[in-house]
Amino acid sequence: MDLLKLKHVKFFKIHVNSLVSVCVFLIILVLIIRTLLLPSSFGFGLFNNNEFELLKYGNVRMKFLEVPQIVWGLNNQKIAFARACLTARMLNRSLLMPSLSASLFYKEIDQLQPISFDKVFNFEKFNSLCDGFVQVSRYSDVRNQSNLIKLQKGSGRRWTLERDLDQLKEFSKRDYDVYETIRVDGKNPFLWHDHWPVSDYAKVFECLVFVDEISKETNEVVSKIREFGSGITRASSYQTPYVAIHMRIERDWMIHCKKREQRSNVSNICSSKEEITTRVANIPGLKPPMILYLAVANELLEDDSILNGWKEGMHPVDKKRLGLTENYKNHPYLIQAAIDYEVCLGADVFVGNSYSTFSSLLVLERTQKTIKTGASHACGTDVRWPSYAYNLKGEDGGPQPWMTNFMDSSLQAISYGSNNVSC
Ligand SMILES: *[C@@H]1O[C@H](CO)[C@@H](O)[C@H](O)[C@H]1NC(C)=O
Ligand SMILES: *[C@@H]1O[C@H](CO)[C@@H](O)[C@H](O)[C@H]1NC(C)=O
Ligand SMILES: *[C@@H]1O[C@H](CO)[C@@H](O)[C@H](O)[C@H]1NC(C)=O
Repeated sequence: MDLLKLKHVKFFKIHVNSLVSVCVFLIILVLIIRTLLLPSSFGFGLFNNNEFELLKYGNVRMKFLEVPQIVWGLNNQKIAFARACLTARMLNRSLLMPSLSASLFYKEIDQLQPISFDKVFNFEKFNSLCDGFVQVSRYSDVRNQSNLIKLQKGSGRRWTLERDLDQLKEFSKRDYDVYETIRVDGKNPFLWHDHWPVSDYAKVFECLVFVDEISKETNEVVSKIREFGSGITRASSYQTPYVAIHMRIERDWMIHCKKREQRSNVSNICSSKEEITTRVANIPGLKPPMILYLAVANELLEDDSILNGWKEGMHPVDKKRLGLTENYKNHPYLIQAAIDYEVCLGADVFVGNSYSTFSSLLVLERTQKTIKTGASHACGTDVRWPSYAYNLKGEDGGPQPWMTNFMDSSLQAISYGSNNVSC
């Protein structure tokens, strides 16, 4: 509206000759227009409850997805958690903080030892790092516990990838917005169909930071390894590098991997201790002295001989030799695995089994670290965080260099293991 023309408006029959009258008239008119056009600027009295909630939470999605307890090994649990997050993202919902499992005994339900997500991972850091991508909420955020609908995951051979995706699409429709919570019933998320590329999983993994208690324990182990190293070289200016080896040679793994070799008609899943020591001795460009940190579940091993038989100048240590057995014993399985994982993540070189989820996720994170240094590839000894697969034969009798291909369209290779190591 052209305000200069206002003085010609005769509607209010106000004398507009004096300057003061014009000003008063204009002020009144502006107030009337504001009231008509912008009612919401006049205080909270005009708000209904929903609008108030919107203001309070801003853009935060206050609708939730609930998933069953997450089970099995540390890295199976991480994958399952990421899959639950990506499902919530697809449904445009926040994931209600799931229970993880502190124990590895998954056959007896009563021994699963639920442990809250925020006892293992830093809740606030997760949400700040993953802001705008995925979000985790607390159960106390739920306003009405009974306003929920169940999503029953199908099972069996007829429950295909396509049917699963159709179901998720159905539940992401606006019709379901009336339900505050969608609760997934059925299998644990590790067993759900996978619909997302490796890069999406990698984004979620990057936001998973262990709680301070775990980092503190990790630092203690690493400083014990470093201490051991300075005992070898007796030179304070030189830090002896450490190679972390994730040795899967326990009896339960050997039974499992032999079966798998038969089923998939390949012979490179299981590696004996002899094969591992030989391959590690032949890693090109690796010059002793160095420390070998053997990440292995001691209590599942049948003999103590893993410290013998390594190449001269390669000094093996395990938790027992570092005097840390007691520290580890104070923690449940999940926390022990988390500490071992962090120690391997920080190693100068990592050697693992390409069929192990634990090894595969380590390589994924190490590849991420390498790429962040500006490197174009992550294979071989000339990169900052090299990794190898000891179950695959590389050049000169060494293990095969190994990196994660972030362009992969599914996490299949990482969740179930493979001999495809992208190098
Ligand atoms: C997701 O939820 C937010 C907040 O509830 C809403 O504004 C947005 O339109 C939703 N997006 C889709 C694709 O439904
Ligand atoms: C909670 O949700 C249920 C189911 O939608 C509904 O019947 C009930 O009235 C709600 N309670 C409150 C306090 O809003
Ligand atoms: C298993 O693999 C070997 C060599 O890779 C091949 O000769 C053999 O026919 C395969 N057996 C079966 C049952 O596929």
